[in-house]
Amino acid sequence: PLVSMTEMLNKAVEGKYAVGQFNINNLEFTQAILQAAQEESSPVILGVSEGAGRYMGGFKLVVEMVKALMDEYKVTVPVAIHLDHGSSFEKCVQAMFAGFTSVMIDGSHHPLDENIAITKKVVDVAHVLGISVEAELGRIGGQEDDLSVDEADAMYAIPSECDRLVRETGVDCFAPALGSVHGPYKGEPRLGFDRMEEVQKLTGVPLVLHGGTGIPTKDIQRAISLGTAKINVNTENQITSAATVRKVLGEKPELYDPRKYLGPARDTIKETVKAKMREFGSSNKA
Ligand code: G3H
Ligand code: ZN
Repeated sequence: PLVSMTEMLNKAVEGKYAVGQFNINNLEFTQAILQAAQEESSPVILGVSEGAGRYMGGFKLVVEMVKALMDEYKVTVPVAIHLDHGSSFEKCVQAMFAGFTSVMIDGSHHPLDENIAITKKVVDVAHVLGISVEAELGRIGGQEDDLSVDEADAMYAIPSECDRLVRETGVDCFAPALGSVHGPYKGEPRLGFDRMEEVQKLTGVPLVLHGGTGIPTKDIQRAISLGTAKINVNTENQITSAATVRKVLGEKPELYDPRKYLGPARDTIKETVKAKMREFGSSNKA
């Protein structure tokens, strides 16, 4: 069923595993991720960035596509459709109106008081509708769609500010920027685990780790042990599926039927997602 993230993340904290947010970009991504979740018997969060939503034809179309595929595949595992890095109150409301079951309001580029005010507005509307809300503090480096933060501007979240934001807004989960990066890492990631622990203790809500592509398993496990219950992955599926398209077209330059190269790309995404679900420990937790 289509659900908010609240129950799946609370269960994940209790069971010491993380639910993956896998971003969708088109039909094939959505098919692959839903099938992977059902076959792994794993809860799943479909991440939709504003840019990907536009690309696919708008939030309403995304919701209808997801619902139709869930019917077609007889999906029984919990699925959330989540706005990734919502840029404004208005965008979050648009997504909620279209049928999203969860939204992220990313006010991390605003001063703290403003971030809190915008986040609170989103929570007030969302909670009336049973929709979950994620917020962010600090700045996650790297690039995702319209969002680009260069290395010098990337900032670690301050625990006392995190505490204030979560307490004053009532968000369901929280993403403190602690050194993770959107897109591939340059060298080993250096995650601020001490702060992660502090933020979890202060706020008491499930934590979210953005920039899940390229984080070594030992860091994933450590983050989960410190209360991380949601891990976002986007780039890894893009890289592995693009590699498959390159390989297929390289081997058969005469090929032009999209099904012949997007089909194998879809298989690659499905395998990548299944491996992540096992790594995050969410397999057989639906
Ligand atoms: O919001 C989405 C994620 O944080 C994705 O990060 O593309 O580095 O996997 P990634
Ligand atoms: Zn992110």
